[in-house]
Amino acid sequence: MSTPQPSVPNLADRRILLAVTGGIAAYKAADLTRRLMEAGAEVQVVMTAGAQEFVTPLTFQALSGRPVRTSLLDPAAEAAMGHIELARWPDLILVAPASADVIAKLALGLADDLLSTLALATDKPIVLAPAMNRLMWGNPATQANVATLVARGVQLIGPGSGFQACGEIGDGRMSEPLQIREAIAQRFSQGPLAGVKAVVTAGPTREAIDPVRFISNRSSGKMGYALAGALRALGADVALLSGPTSLSTPSGVRRVDIESAQELLDAALRESADAQIFVGAAAVADYRVEQVADEKIKKKDATMALTLSRNPDVISTVRERDARLFVVGFAAETEKLEEHARGKLARKKLDLIAANWVGRGRAFDRDDNALSVYWNGGGRELPRANKAEIARELAALIAERYARRVT
Ligand code: C5P
Repeated sequence: MSTPQPSVPNLADRRILLAVTGGIAAYKAADLTRRLMEAGAEVQVVMTAGAQEFVTPLTFQALSGRPVRTSLLDPAAEAAMGHIELARWPDLILVAPASADVIAKLALGLADDLLSTLALATDKPIVLAPAMNRLMWGNPATQANVATLVARGVQLIGPGSGFQACGEIGDGRMSEPLQIREAIAQRFSQGPLAGVKAVVTAGPTREAIDPVRFISNRSSGKMGYALAGALRALGADVALLSGPTSLSTPSGVRRVDIESAQELLDAALRESADAQIFVGAAAVADYRVEQVADEKIKKKDATMALTLSRNPDVISTVRERDARLFVVGFAAETEKLEEHARGKLARKKLDLIAANWVGRGRAFDRDDNALSVYWNGGGRELPRANKAEIARELAALIAERYARRVT
């Protein structure tokens, strides 16, 4: 049986500056160059000194059809295209593999070689495909540097998990060239939501009881995460406000971690100020503990009572502040699905509501789901499918209804 070939995305006329840094995964960058060329991209390779210890510039020159740039201070290369000009040339700078050292340099804003200088001198998007030993990747120093870069809008592809060249198993493998090419193509694709900012809330909230205990719920965050990825795939700029989950952030999505409903509300108000679409997929706790104990509560009596007070309604507060926002809510119901969902649509002044049945193994913490979607004067059934597929259909419906409202 022949293995199906992945379809080749269209990167015609896209200019990609591929920066290769020092690590064993540098050999995969040669295949990546070939794959990008195959999709029609123009590829200019820049290599750090470390990268040249693993692969020769000649390999990349042969694959890309362009002389490779390796030095900031090479008079001949500078005469052909100066580094400032080179920083302006691409549509995107892709660093693959991105070593721990280069990630640290970019986070600090150093400019002591060609790549770090280009990264400072460009206003083009920067995408990193990290590759390193699992302990280097997990090190708090690397994680802090990555968080700094992501907060500045740098996109991360991978790293993946698995066998490493050093013989260990774990996170830190560079994503495969085809995965990287796909993520780049997705970034370039002008979807129906290009230029639109969407804020998605996802996962549970945690309401503290004392320093070690909290009240929460069974939400896995899977639906909200899948939806954030699907909106991104349609071209939206997505901020994902996430309660504690064990999920990895969808490619190209900016994630903001929150714990309590109040923290979620603060982040939602901040992030939605310049957004056009707001999706409330989080399972927000309706109540919080009125008096959070400063110290761990000791067991004493046979019973104990906690007084709870109502949490703010995040989606309603966001809607009240901005009537122009396109607001999508979720309704999890155990009975009278349409009646209750339409009630919420009207009460919370939503533009769209996605409703599903919950309880007895349905929806929460599962990988599939079915949704009934309602809006004023209409509705659509999205039959049971895995959450990724349902999310794609819901994202397309959101884009469709949003476009109608805008026109
Ligand atoms: O009222 P109910 O909790 O059923 O409404 C569900 C919808 O409202 C979801 O979109 C949920 O994210 C949102 N919600 C919220 N803040 C709350 C409670 C619910 O944003 N405090």
